[in-house]
Formats: sequence, C-alpha cells, structure tokens
Amino acid sequence: MIDTASPNGAALLRVEELTVEFRGGGLFSLGRSMVHAVRNVSFSVGRGEAYGLVGESGSGKTTTGRCVLGLQSPTKGSIRLADDDVGELRRRDPEVLHRRIQAVFQNPIASLNPAMTVEMILAEPLRRLADVRDRDDARRRSIELLDEVRLPREILNRRPTELSGGQAQRVSIARALASHPMLIVLDEAVSALDVATQAQVINLLAELRDETGVSYLFIAHDLAVVRHLSDRIGVMSNGEIVEEGPASDICRTPSHEYTQRLLAAVPVPDPTVKRVRRDPNRDESVETQD
Ligand SMILES: Nc1ncnc2c1ncn2[C@@H]1O[C@H](COP(=O)(O)OP(=O)(O)OP(=O)(O)O)[C@@H](O)[C@H]1O
Ligand SMILES: [Mg+2]
Repeated sequence: MIDTASPNGAALLRVEELTVEFRGGGLFSLGRSMVHAVRNVSFSVGRGEAYGLVGESGSGKTTTGRCVLGLQSPTKGSIRLADDDVGELRRRDPEVLHRRIQAVFQNPIASLNPAMTVEMILAEPLRRLADVRDRDDARRRSIELLDEVRLPREILNRRPTELSGGQAQRVSIARALASHPMLIVLDEAVSALDVATQAQVINLLAELRDETGVSYLFIAHDLAVVRHLSDRIGVMSNGEIVEEGPASDICRTPSHEYTQRLLAAVPVPDPTVKRVRRDPNRDESVETQD
C-alpha cells in the first residue's frame, strides 16, 4: 500500500481509499456494465505542497479531482480537508467549501463567462466568498489580484474573447485566488497553452505558492509539465495510483513500468532551445539568445 504520509507535517488534504464506479447506461448495456473510474486511491497533500497527479487519458485523474472538489460523490472512501469531510461540508456549507478549495480547468477562455468583463469575473467571487461588497473595494482588490498574476490593470475592462489563452488562464488563477483558498485543484490547467506560455504559467504558480502558502493538486497527462511544479507525484493508471514519491525520484528512477513508459514519452530538453524570458505586461514570451 502507498504511504500517504506527507513530508510537510500534518496533511491539508487526505484522500483515503477513494473508489468511484459509474454504472453504464448505454442502450445495449442494459445497465449491467460498470466503469471503475477510480479504485482504492489514497494520497495526501501537505500545506503549501504541490502534489502532481499524472497518468494517461481515462486513468481517473479528473474523477479524483472532481471528488476532491465535492462535485462527484465517491462510491467508497473518504476525502478530508483539514478537519472536515468534503462531502459533508458541501452539504452543510457549500460556500465554506468553495472558499477553501478552488479549481482551474483546461480551456481558459471557455471557462470564463464571455458576457462578463474581467472586473465582473473577479468581483463575483470577491462578493460571494470574500465578503467584498463595495464596488470601489472590489475594484481595488481586483487590481491587486491582477497584480498577483502579473497582469496589467487595463485588462479589467476586457472580455474573455479579447484575451490570449495565457492571459485568460491568469485571470482564472486570479479568480481562484480571490477567496484565499487553502487548496487549488488545477486539472490540465496548462494543457491548452503553447509550450512557452505553459512554462510562464507554471513559474507563476510556483511563485504564488511561495507567496501565499496555497497547496495544489496539479493534474495533467504530461509528466514533463507535472514534474516542474510538483513536490511529489502520484502516477495513475487504470484508476489506481501505481507509483508515488518525490518528483525527483519518480523522474530519475521510476520503479513502475508504466511510469517508465510515461517518462520515455517526455522529450529530452533540446540544448538549442532559446531561453524564455517573461514579460509581465505581455502574454507572449520573449526569446533570448543568451
Ligand atoms: N460521468 C461519467 N459516467 C461514466 N463514465 C465516466 C464518467 N466520468 C468519467 N467516466 C469514465 O471514468 C474513467 C476515468 O475518466 P477521467 O475523466 O477521470 O479520466 P482522466 O484521467 O481525467 O482522463 P483525461 O486525461 O482524458 O482527462 C474513463 O473511463 C471515463 O470514461
Ligand atoms: Mg481529465
């Protein structure tokens, strides 16, 4: 059995023996088929820790993340955030759960309401979850949030379709930070971005973690992306965590054959690739030759 003890003291999130089964409802299945999306998955995330969940398509990563967010009820097992059971907290006080756990999903532009400006997008969680009701206070706090994600305040009046993918994902991260969450679940949060923008957003997430102490459950199918941000990594295959450990160990000496295959798919860094410098006022990367 995998050791769920977190190296960072008492765990913030503790997932124990999580199992999720979906009953097949297809026309020809007669309700008999069963999808075992997640089987007996246990892991913990410490305070201020980034835990990476990696695995091929269909391995159960999103289903695990949805359970952590309280969006999916487990068939079996438990999920605790600090002292609370997530499912019970969702029933008893969903706003407290939303305040403590936030999410950032894959498609940055589609996950923002196209009818709203960035100011309206940020004002909504500030009002609902952070008790910022006064309009001037909301504007001031929104500018601070944009500053935290290294976006200029001029962005406040833009709508999602007027943003680049990287800028939109930074707005999603700012929206997630509005309630000072303990944990952010990032499900394929950089997968839709080009490689240079991915690196910028991952660097930003690392800086935000250092500045705020927030924890991450960082879900992605790509080990190359996960290893940059994660302290520890759990490798999922066919609904199970088949290997878990410090990110450096998993990538240097993978013990499971499946992880070795995942690692083999990671391209070797190309020494001729130009270094990328981040320009905080633009989303595009600036390449340098040095
Ligand atoms: N609501 C649902 N009803 C039935 N089956 C589901 C449902 N949601 C997920 N599944 C199945 O559960 C399994 C795990 O799916 P999940 O979305 O968690 O995988 P994933 O690891 O996130 O994959 P990807 O990398 O493609 O996002 C898959 O076989 C999927 O088809
Ligand atoms: Mg998924």
